[in-house]
Amino acid sequence: MQGENTDQPHPDAVCSIEIDDLPDGVIVADRTGRVLAVNRAAARLTRIDAGRAVGRDIRDVFPFRDHDGREWWKWLDPCGGLRTRTRQPECPVQLPGGPELLIAARLVRAPERGGDVVRVAITLRDAGARARLERSRADLVSTVAHELRSPLTSVKGFTATLLAKWNRFTDDQKLVMLETVNSDADRVTRLITELLDVSRIESGRLQVRRQVVDIPARVRRLIAGRVAAGEPEDRFRVEVRGELPETWLDQDKIDQILGNLLENAVRHGRGTVTIVVEPIEWGVAVSVRDRGEGIAPELATRVFRQFWRGQGRRRGGTGLGLFIVKGLVEAHGGTVTVQRGPEGGAEFRFTVPTGTPDFA
Ligand SMILES: Nc1ncnc2c1ncn2[C@@H]1O[C@H](COP(=O)(O)OP(=O)(O)OP(=O)(O)O)[C@@H](O)[C@H]1O
Ligand SMILES: [Mg+2]
Repeated sequence: MQGENTDQPHPDAVCSIEIDDLPDGVIVADRTGRVLAVNRAAARLTRIDAGRAVGRDIRDVFPFRDHDGREWWKWLDPCGGLRTRTRQPECPVQLPGGPELLIAARLVRAPERGGDVVRVAITLRDAGARARLERSRADLVSTVAHELRSPLTSVKGFTATLLAKWNRFTDDQKLVMLETVNSDADRVTRLITELLDVSRIESGRLQVRRQVVDIPARVRRLIAGRVAAGEPEDRFRVEVRGELPETWLDQDKIDQILGNLLENAVRHGRGTVTIVVEPIEWGVAVSVRDRGEGIAPELATRVFRQFWRGQGRRRGGTGLGLFIVKGLVEAHGGTVTVQRGPEGGAEFRFTVPTGTPDFA
């Protein structure tokens, strides 16, 4: 800011802003309660036409009441109270038969300190949106707590039993218990890793570190891993169609996307899993198909939501996999969809642009 004349407004500065431009509802009244102005958002939230409200008494046009039925304006009492009072903190109110709103006010005084109230500026917000957000946060907390509790209960139960009755079990029984403890501990770790991914996706902190990634090679590597872990080799088929362009992607994230889709095809689907990799105009498309029951078209957007799981939770996932897949694909600038595959089961198809090196 060196050398700038601070008395002059910057040529690009917006000098005034219309109250209709504001995202929150705004009502301005004088000290007696006569409405001076109502912006568009306030008219929308209260469903009261601004033209009908201006010039009238706020108590008649906007009879806001709190949960206990008290009249908000009377309670605000702009002319009463201490002369230093300038703010009325946000609180929930309602108009008769209307939705819940969050209302806050500022008492404009002249002179500014200790003077008489000349105007009251009121802001309104939709309380429903915030309540929905809070409810979804509360749901998230209870789901996470529930998901963490069941493996931890088994870890605690088996370790306590082993400690108390070590000599009463055979080696084989001990082994089974320790294997269960081990796999439940893995489940907790996996859930926590997934939750961290979810929070990165939600806060937009996901970083894509680009390098040349050979998608068919990544697919084959993942399959080799699954086969080494005991799955039959003929369960998977890889088809590469045409000449693929060079793709600059985040290899770990591509592995995670492919790993999730393969895991789902094996766990939720049935039969041979076919992975088709093909070039598209601006990048590469990968389809993962199985021959299971597939996903009903009306559920096609729901499967990508957090914690959404199909009927019969016996297959024991947390419902975060596809949410993470979508976040990772979109971080690359691609898209992911689901439809019925040519062999009847689910077909998940994602696209990624060729990308450019980070330093380009
Ligand atoms: N290939 C598929 N065939 C049929 N249903 C599927 C398929 N893939 C996913 N689904 C359904 O979509 C739901 C959500 O999948 P998602 O991967 O998000 O969660 P999950 O596999 O249950 O758990 P997680 O991946 O977090 O361990 C699954 O529970 C399942 O009902
Ligand atoms: Mg999954």
